[in-house]
Amino acid sequence: QATSISADRVPDMGKRQLMNLLLLGAVSLPTVGMLVPYAAFFVPPGSGGGGGGIVAKDALGNDVIADAWLKTHGPGDRTLTQGLKGDPTYLVVENDKTLATYGLNAVCTHLGCVVPWNAAENKFICPCHGSQYNNQGTVVRGPAPLSLALVHVDIDDGKVVFVPWVEPDFRTGENPWWA
Ligand code: FES
Repeated sequence: QATSISADRVPDMGKRQLMNLLLLGAVSLPTVGMLVPYAAFFVPPGSGGGGGGIVAKDALGNDVIADAWLKTHGPGDRTLTQGLKGDPTYLVVENDKTLATYGLNAVCTHLGCVVPWNAAENKFICPCHGSQYNNQGTVVRGPAPLSLALVHVDIDDGKVVFVPWVEPDFRTGENPWWA
């Protein structure tokens, strides 16, 4: 009799442990998966100084790697990436084939259309109401009232990182309207 009880229990205990393991896995895997980006979001990217930086993402959602970017984007290039708060943000390649230390928020300061770069005109020209910005995003024709917002561009561990720009606007010397 005693042997039949223990024989029943052993597989039963085994099953329970297995169920506990499965349950633990089911709970902890998604939790870890969610915590990693959550924690990464709050960790300043080292060179960022003020913190709050994020890695730029390309059109496919991949991290922008500075060296690889510069191999496929030549001098004068202005290409949209995903920036702070998901805002479309231009990465600028300078004429010396380096990345500019500023990025430009592509949201038109008039009514918020995304402003395309027009390489032939060397300007950003808004398709919605015709506002124009020069190649550094300074407004040169209304109705847009303000220049395109700036972000800092840092390189951290080879990746392009956007950091909020809270200092005076280097184009105007004025305090940033967006900060
Ligand atoms: Fe760009 Fe109106 S939204 S000009």
